[in-house]
This record gives sequence, structure tokens and C-alpha cells, in this order.
Amino acid sequence: MKFSLVNLELKEIIADLEMILVIDKVFSHRFIEDEALLKRASFQGNQDEVCHLVSTNRVYVGVETFDAEHIRSAIAVATRSFIAKSAYKSVKIATYMHTPHTFNTLQAMVEGFVLGGYQFQRYQTKKSSVAFKKVMISSESFNQEAFSLERAIEVIHHAEVVAMATNFTRDIVNTTPEDCYPKRLAQLAQTLEKKDVVCNILKPKELKKEGMNMLLAVSRASRHKPRVIHLSYKPKNPQHCISLVGKGLTYDSGGLSLKPADYMATMKSDKSGGATVLGIMKAVSELKLPIEVHGFIGAVENMIGGDAYKPDDVLMAKNGKTVEVKNTDAEGRLVLGDLLVYAQQEVSSDYLFDFATLTGACVVGVGQYTSGVMGYNHRLKERVVSLAYQSGEFATRLDFNRYLAKTLTSNIADLSNISNTRYGGAITAGQFLAEFITEENREKWVHIDIAGPAFVEHIWGENPSGASGAGVRMMMEFLTSLTQKSL
Ligand code: BES
Ligand code: ZN
Ligand code: ZN
Repeated sequence: MKFSLVNLELKEIIADLEMILVIDKVFSHRFIEDEALLKRASFQGNQDEVCHLVSTNRVYVGVETFDAEHIRSAIAVATRSFIAKSAYKSVKIATYMHTPHTFNTLQAMVEGFVLGGYQFQRYQTKKSSVAFKKVMISSESFNQEAFSLERAIEVIHHAEVVAMATNFTRDIVNTTPEDCYPKRLAQLAQTLEKKDVVCNILKPKELKKEGMNMLLAVSRASRHKPRVIHLSYKPKNPQHCISLVGKGLTYDSGGLSLKPADYMATMKSDKSGGATVLGIMKAVSELKLPIEVHGFIGAVENMIGGDAYKPDDVLMAKNGKTVEVKNTDAEGRLVLGDLLVYAQQEVSSDYLFDFATLTGACVVGVGQYTSGVMGYNHRLKERVVSLAYQSGEFATRLDFNRYLAKTLTSNIADLSNISNTRYGGAITAGQFLAEFITEENREKWVHIDIAGPAFVEHIWGENPSGASGAGVRMMMEFLTSLTQKSL
């Protein structure tokens, strides 16, 4: 999609379609000519309500407030309404920038077009051709005093890169386990290599040498051998260093503690954490942020078979702790345990974030649309939560406590891989991961359970049915907030 800022009034710009935001149900007198038609179509101007007037080539969409979240969602819904079934090549829109949040609005607009324009057609034999490729943003309604053209161009570029990276993550997650298994995920990671980006892949032999026995046990019954992916982006003179760790279960059947059929379907999405890390690496390197970023992904398939790891096994983790396996479906924490130890040994960073579709309990606890943010550093968690909201994602803090930590004990090993209480499953999983964080890194680490929002089987705002790319926008907001490039 191509975005351009045009220094003309809206009516002077030539485009196939005009998009009009109806803010708080107030119709601009400029479009009074369409009022009768809108009335006839019973258009009320509610948030995300779309009315396409074919006769005047205008698409109206309701927006509750000028807030970015409302603008982003409305534009996405309006874009989705015409993208697959029309020949419109170009759309024009005003800037709606007569608010103090000038650039937030502009960023949200661009994200709305790109995120709402997302389609996953890989497995459809009849693909709809998409004509739409140009957005012209009129300077009309610019707040002249506050406006800097240079800055606006930068904001548009930033928003486009982040939204495209989110779509890139969505594509990976939506891909079937037959087409995306550990080796393929590693190959995909290699395509991100360029001047400042290096990709190192660890195969089973090296994983064994590294002592990543928990990760290897989870992978053992699969015909697809595991990979650990380490992508590093190293700009000149970085201001910070960040490590990102992602759960990349290309399929989670549950293993011998087999999932019931209803729960197994959609488990191609268990690679979402890894796909999110890939999306972030792509965006960070394209934006050339002055931050060194390391992405670690545990790419593994959890299957059944004669060689499967079993409930009752005791495994020795990379950090020397022993873990009694009581449920092979709690495999993500085993993979991440080893991977977190590896990440901390390889790189000493200022912050360590992990992304994982770790627990169904997180979805039960906070709902499908919200990520659970855990760790020891309250201020850091708060920052992640508030920046997530700013980016258009929902996240909430789930605090650890010492009583839940005690529920991970085993009679025969240092730890059990599941808790002995049926309550607080998202937190106990997080506290299991905490066993693999060194004392030195306690305050630097945040665990983000994206089990809910990563994959939702219906459209929600700017998110399509299926993969959402959860975590990408949230983390990009955090990373840009660390730099002068902060929006
Ligand atoms: N990948 C699942 C968690 C999950 C569930 C992600 C639903 C997305 C949607 C994870 O590996 C798992 O199976 N967790 C178990 C843990 C339990 C055995 C302690 C769960 O949540 O049921
Ligand atoms: Zn599982
Ligand atoms: Zn899993």
C-alpha cells in the first residue's frame, strides 16, 4: 500500500473512493448532500458502522472519539468492507488532525488501512484480486501550527512498517503445521538476514551440547526435528540491548497427555510467540532503531509416538534444575525454560521479554482479547501494559505471589511442570518460567502470555479472524519509547 500526504483540499484530490469518518455521530455539513442517502440506509454513525454509498463513491464509517483506538478500528473495518470485492484502486481521506493527538491519529489511520487490508488467501483456490493500493491523505484540517511535514512522513513510514510486520506475523501463524514446521520457521527467520541482521540456527546436535534437554524431550516424538533460532540485529552505537524470547510450537497436540479434539484444533497458533518475535525483528531492522535486539525462538512440534516423552519423566534443564513431567501438554514452559537460560547466557541485555501462547488459564482469566503481563518488576510491567494500550493492544498485569510458587513442587525432583492447584494457571506457568531467570535478571524480565489474543476465530476491530499478530505493536511501542524516535 502506498501512502501519500497531499497538500490539497479533499475535494480537489482525484481518487476512486472517499473515506469519511463520522465522529460522535456528527455529520459534517460538507457532506450534507449525502445525508438523505445515509438516512435511507439507516446509517447511525455508531463506532465501526460502515455505509458505502456507491452512487457518490463515498464510504462512511462511525467513530466514537478521536482516540487512536477508535480511528484505527473504524478505518480497518471500512477498508475490509470494500477491499476484496471492488475495483477501487485509490482512496482519499482527510487528516482529522484538529486535536492535540495529531500524530497518534495519523499513525492509527495508516495502521487501520494496513491491518484492515490484511487477507490470508494462501489456501484458497479462488483468490480475490485486490485492486486497492493507494491512500491519499489530504492536508485539509491540518493544524498548521503544530504540523511538521517531515515528522508526518516519518510517522506514516513507522506506522506502515509496524503494521506490515504485524501482517507478516499473522501470515506465519495462519500457516498450517504441514507447511510450517521447525525447519521451515528457521528458514523463514533466515530470510530476515541483511546487513545488520544475523541468523544463527541450532540443530539437535548443538541443542544436546547446550544441554537443552527439556526442549529436546518435547520435540522427540515428532518427525520434524527442533530448531533454536537466534536472530540478532546490531546497529552501530546502540543505546540499549534487548532480548526477546518466543514460544514456537509449530504444533501442540498435547503429546501423550493428548488434547481433546476440540482443544487441539487451532494449535497451529502455538507458534505465535515465535512469530511475534520474527515480526518485531523485521520491524526493528526496517526502522533501523538504535537498539540492539536479539530474538530467540524455540521451534518445536509436540507430538505423540513410541518415542514420546512421558508424564512421570524427570528432565534436567539447561540450568541444572530437575523437572518432573506431570503433563506433557504443559510443554511450552519446558521449551521456554531452556531457551530463557540460553538467551541469558548468550546475551546480557537491559530487558528480557518472552512471548508465549502459554496457558488456556490466561484466556479464561482475562478473556480472549487481552495478554497477561507477568514478572517481578512492577514498574516495568505497568509500562508494558500502558504502552500496549497505546499501541492498540489489550494487556493486563497478573502478579506473582509466593504461595502460588509453592504449588510447583515435586516429591522426586526440584520442580513439577504443572501446579498442584487448579487455580491461577497463567501465574503458576509464569512462576515456573521464573525458575529459569537468574537473580541478576529478575528485574529485567517480563513474561507475556498471548494465548488469548494471538488467535481469535472472529473479526475484532482491526484484527481479522485467525491470527492477530499480538505482541508486535505492543513491543514496537515499548522499543520506540526507548529511543528519541518515540512517537
Ligand atoms: N498451548 C497451550 C496453551 C493454549 C491454550 C494456548 C489455548 C492457546 C489457547 C499450552 O501448551 C497448554 O496446553 N497448556 C495447558 C497447561 C496445563 C496442562 C497445565 C493448558 O493451558 O491447559
Ligand atoms: Zn500444550
Ligand atoms: Zn502449547
